[in-house]
Amino acid sequence: MAVKPQLGLIGLGTMGAALALNIAEKGFPIAVWNRTASVTRRFHSAAGALAERIVPAETLADLVAAMAAPRAIILMVPAGEAVDAQLSALAPLLGPQDLVIDAGNANFHDTDRRAAAGWPFRFMGIGVSGGEAGARHGPAIMAGGKPEDWARMAPVLRAIAARAEDGTPCADHMGEGGAGHFVKMVHNGIEYADMQMIAEVYGIMRDGLAMAAPEIAPVFARWNEGVLRSYLVEISAAVAAARDPVTGGPMLDMIVDAAGQKGTGRWTAIEAQHLGAPIPVIEAAVMARNVSARRAERAAGEALYGPAPEPAVVPLEDLEQALIAGKILCYAQGFAMMRAAAESFGWALDMPAIARVWRAGCIIRSAMLNDMAEALAEDPGRNLILAPFFANTLRRGLPALRRVVAAGALHGLGLPALSAGLAWFDMMRTARGTADMIQAQRDYFGLHGFQRRDGLDRPHGPWAEG
Ligand code: 6PG
Repeated sequence: MAVKPQLGLIGLGTMGAALALNIAEKGFPIAVWNRTASVTRRFHSAAGALAERIVPAETLADLVAAMAAPRAIILMVPAGEAVDAQLSALAPLLGPQDLVIDAGNANFHDTDRRAAAGWPFRFMGIGVSGGEAGARHGPAIMAGGKPEDWARMAPVLRAIAARAEDGTPCADHMGEGGAGHFVKMVHNGIEYADMQMIAEVYGIMRDGLAMAAPEIAPVFARWNEGVLRSYLVEISAAVAAARDPVTGGPMLDMIVDAAGQKGTGRWTAIEAQHLGAPIPVIEAAVMARNVSARRAERAAGEALYGPAPEPAVVPLEDLEQALIAGKILCYAQGFAMMRAAAESFGWALDMPAIARVWRAGCIIRSAMLNDMAEALAEDPGRNLILAPFFANTLRRGLPALRRVVAAGALHGLGLPALSAGLAWFDMMRTARGTADMIQAQRDYFGLHGFQRRDGLDRPHGPWAEG
């Protein structure tokens, strides 16, 4: 190769390899290195026509030497200690204009710390979503870091990103420090919630309506043609339709009902608690994964209490409407959490821009994000449930959501995410809540004081006298 590449990539695992090929395919020469040299060689020889734009390096020093300054090196190594180790290893090799970009699923606190750490090179953290296919053909990219570093990387990141239907690349600058990884974390929290709500309506179809997986598949497929059009509903139709190559029966019926997790959903729930931001649908989804892992206890519970009461009869139309309503409530919570974070961390998070970046490439991509981007652009500080467009959609969906949640309660089908969304909504639409009782209790046992509705300065109840 005549010209040395200015771009490099470290870590040729599934995601790193796919991203490197995507970058090369978009016309950018790139140097690559993996800790195990044989992986690098295999990757290069399998790259086909793209191999001529890819420079494989045997050592980290070779990688740096193979590149022209100022360099930009993308890290695709497992989040956590591996990133710190890699940054330390790069420190003696890079100069002040070189840029290292952590594109893994880092915890945003780590990214904040690394951005402030005073490395001899520049540093930014970017959230990348879309799984292997996204990395290869167009992910959604949520970039954090200094505006000048974003400006430097934007042409590459926009070129490799997915494009929304209007042609806009799904890559944008979220803010400084850990802002990009924060938005990616909330994306993953919402991903957990979207998946959980789909699993809940699947459960009603399977256990309440006694539908077999091949009957459920076309229902999801039909929903995917309407308001619910989204990647996750689309793949739910595909997995419900899939047959097990071993038994020939439905694939779903052979899969153990215990969900794994790498932790980003849990991080979202933890951060929401720190921020005092209510995200009950996401929290319920994290809880549900944790409960799913307790298989032996669940089996003992079923043996003791018996199976759920008689089957629930819920119209499929109600399930679709409940899922629409639940999804709006979940996203309303997620965007409100990001507003709270922007205020708390001093980031200028742009809510409509976030919705636009999520429209394509990422796991939670959906048609509804177009409407969310528009509603957030009208008033970025307003909760989505107060936006006229979504208020109309919710008015249609809420009666169905109530019937579905009630049916779940009556028939013993756990619907934690849908129920949590409804409970939150009912609190959010109630001008006089019930925290007067909490405040009175706090004052009663601890003289914590309260505000009076009439504004009088009498912060204690009669129990405080005498
Ligand atoms: C994405 C995904 C991805 C995530 C997996 C698995 O946006 O491409 O969010 O980053 O790692 O979906 O996450 P769990 O193992 O926690 O389910």
